[in-house]
Amino acid sequence: MIVLVGFMGSGKSTVGRMLAAKLDLGFADSDEVIERDQQMTIVEMFEEYGEEFFRKVEAATIVRLLSGPDQVLALGGGSLGSEQVRKALRPHHVVFLDVPFKRAKFRIREDPARPMLKRDDLEELYNQRIPVYRQVADLVVPASGRPGGVVKNVMGALARHPNVTK
Ligand code: S3P
Repeated sequence: MIVLVGFMGSGKSTVGRMLAAKLDLGFADSDEVIERDQQMTIVEMFEEYGEEFFRKVEAATIVRLLSGPDQVLALGGGSLGSEQVRKALRPHHVVFLDVPFKRAKFRIREDPARPMLKRDDLEELYNQRIPVYRQVADLVVPASGRPGGVVKNVMGALARHPNVTK
């Protein structure tokens, strides 16, 4: 499975969808699967049950998806906080879409669908998460540019990667 990780606004969903089409694979976005399963939006989940509840559902959903059929999978930006998730990622191709904080922030601006944007320590959160994305990633791909170019770079990096069939 090819798994895309990175901060909010790194382009995981857009790039993931395009990449899946090119590779003729399915695509899933953990946030979308969670919303469908729970029959509520992530914002509603945060408001009604809190972040901790969301994180539990998120980890369980991702672990389930990772043991399912091969596809391109985009993970929510905070999901690597779970050790269970980090562990479950080991047998997969993990691609970190790397964008500077300012670029990510500009892309997401005031998206009302992202409850984490309400936090005033967003840059700190970014700085804490970057080393974790790097640590779990097999490939790090700069992702500040247009999605088409990023997809090309991911494909190139995957082709050069020795264990691409794992
Ligand atoms: C979150 C990122 C979101 C979503 C939720 C929490 C985070 O996913 O899972 O709002 O903690 O960074 P994206 O990275 O797809 O925006």
